[in-house]
Amino acid sequence: MSDMTPYVLILYYSRSGATAAMAQQIVAGVESVPGIQARLRTVAPVSTTCEAVEPEIPAEGAVYADLDDLRHCAALALGSPTRFGNMAAPLKYFLDSTSSLWMNGALIDKPACAFTSTASLHGGQESTLLTMLVPLLHHGMVYAGVPYNETTLLETRSGGTPYGVSHLAGPRSDRPVDDHERTLCLAQGKRIARLALALHAMRQEAV
Ligand SMILES: Cc1cc2nc3c(=O)[nH]c(=O)nc-3n(C[C@H](O)[C@H](O)[C@H](O)COP(=O)(O)O)c2cc1C
Repeated sequence: MSDMTPYVLILYYSRSGATAAMAQQIVAGVESVPGIQARLRTVAPVSTTCEAVEPEIPAEGAVYADLDDLRHCAALALGSPTRFGNMAAPLKYFLDSTSSLWMNGALIDKPACAFTSTASLHGGQESTLLTMLVPLLHHGMVYAGVPYNETTLLETRSGGTPYGVSHLAGPRSDRPVDDHERTLCLAQGKRIARLALALHAMRQEAV
């Protein structure tokens, strides 16, 4: 596909791999839709010396996102482990660097979704997803959860919410993404890709 092909940015942070495993499934969902690509990106951890300690390219896994990845995306899937019922600081740190995009309205009318992973089943998946949505709304993005025609939402005994997909990783964060969670990640990826194409066409018509 050409460089002009629209893409869904799957932007996540993951320390022990659970959110990264979800991201891979969402990529597969996006790539099941013709005419759009998936772009997988992560963010560096933060510390008191965060801007000094990380190499520009991580030793393994997805490369770090820059503002242009976000500026030019057709849609965003934002993934974070739950940290006390909220998104992890490295992702928030990245989002806090996006005010130039906000000022230019770069993300207006682009679809977005969120995904998260927790240690415990009732440890804050929904609160994390709902609070991740807040900065995306400030950017003018159109939030897409998971509708209940995905009947797996009614069957799952682990992750999966109408606010976005989720994963129960367990106390050691080593529980694999199970079949229900995988089904919902794929559905979320497919949905965000279809919405990305529809809204991309709408924005093209408007110019
Ligand atoms: C500082 C901190 C706060 C956390 N807060 C929660 C929490 O509120 N609820 C929960 O279930 N798990 C919590 N966890 C566990 C992680 O959300 C969980 O292990 C997640 O699956 C890790 O994802 P990752 O493998 O992508 O890093 C916390 C972990 C850390 C380090």
